[in-house]
Amino acid sequence: MARAKKVVLAYSGGVDTSVCIPYLKHEWGVEEVIALAADLGQGDELEPVREKALKSGASESIVADVKLSFVKDYAFRAIQANALYENRYPLGTSLARPLIAKVLVETAEKYGADAIAHGCTGKGNDQVRFDVSVAALNPSLKILAPAREWGMSREETIAYGEKFGISSPVKKSSPYSIDRNLLGRSIEAGILEDPTTEPPEEIYLMTKAIANTPNEPEYIEIGFTRGIPTTLNGESKNPVDLIEQLNTVVGNHGVGRIDMIENRLVGIKSREIYESPAMCVLIQAHRDLESLTLTADVTHYKRGIEETYSQIVYNGLWYNPLKTALDAFIQDTQERVSGTVRVKLFKGNAFIVGRKSEHSLYSPDLATYGAEDKFDHRAAEGFIYVWGLPTRIWAHQGRS
Ligand code: ARG
Repeated sequence: MARAKKVVLAYSGGVDTSVCIPYLKHEWGVEEVIALAADLGQGDELEPVREKALKSGASESIVADVKLSFVKDYAFRAIQANALYENRYPLGTSLARPLIAKVLVETAEKYGADAIAHGCTGKGNDQVRFDVSVAALNPSLKILAPAREWGMSREETIAYGEKFGISSPVKKSSPYSIDRNLLGRSIEAGILEDPTTEPPEEIYLMTKAIANTPNEPEYIEIGFTRGIPTTLNGESKNPVDLIEQLNTVVGNHGVGRIDMIENRLVGIKSREIYESPAMCVLIQAHRDLESLTLTADVTHYKRGIEETYSQIVYNGLWYNPLKTALDAFIQDTQERVSGTVRVKLFKGNAFIVGRKSEHSLYSPDLATYGAEDKFDHRAAEGFIYVWGLPTRIWAHQGRS
């Protein structure tokens, strides 16, 4: 029995997703495969990708430009949440998956498909993100993941494809597994699997080696409106341009490289290298503006929310009710997070060197050590008496 009649496949143009097309049709009895490639700013020419799907046997091949939504509805939300998985990874790959899932579901609904498919294997996080997101958006759609079941080695996959006229990659295929979009690059496998080995310089494309960065610092000014970055050096930017330009400026100073051992949801520890220049600096600057404009208790409480938020995004729960509830909290906190942050880029560092906001809670009269000081020093004594009372009682008790 066929597993599905009409399938929308998440298509990248690579060997695995190309082989999925004949595999779905010939091994799993699917009648029609519609290929969908999402343009997330991965920098590939997408017209050849579109054509390759048709040559591989797809009945329709669609390219969806989702760059604007990717930045506005996903990346900017993550910046408001200061989202860094395990305190480091700005989630460039993780954020793309729920959006691809959304377009897959919309396309399936439009074309009357009964399933969606993807080329993920059974070892990674992306399969979880696709499957759970699709289920959340349309639980009646079936999800097919041929690469999770076919058990073919890389060579066997290529040989299978060749039987159906799918050429193996023209360029010498990279020894690494690379995922790229507007928010950055995620690089793993090959010699990177040895966690003691320093990543070779050749893997980086968006960030310069320190030896090649400018010998003069560069100052940039990022403007935020309610926690959303809106200006660069005083000029309003549309979301996609802002990210692209920041990637160039920041990457030029070698900022945004991350080399980490991370915990995948499926229980495996993996070594991943990231370069994510714009996101790293935007989160750093946004967090700084929050420390100027949010009260201490909101700032501290939000840290916990951010940790949970990062985990649920990483773990594929973008469309989960907990995420929606956390979003509501985060949105509420952003009301006054407007202003500008000055960043100095130099030799692999991004230093925050200045910040201002019309909603600033910083009071020079209270903070100063000079003569203008308005803080009532005598009030501190009574405050400390009450604040320290439980500790004082505890200490007395221990001595008796
Ligand atoms: N570890 C990252 C994540 O789970 C990236 C996964 C894709 N990485 C890759 N090199 N293909 O979000």
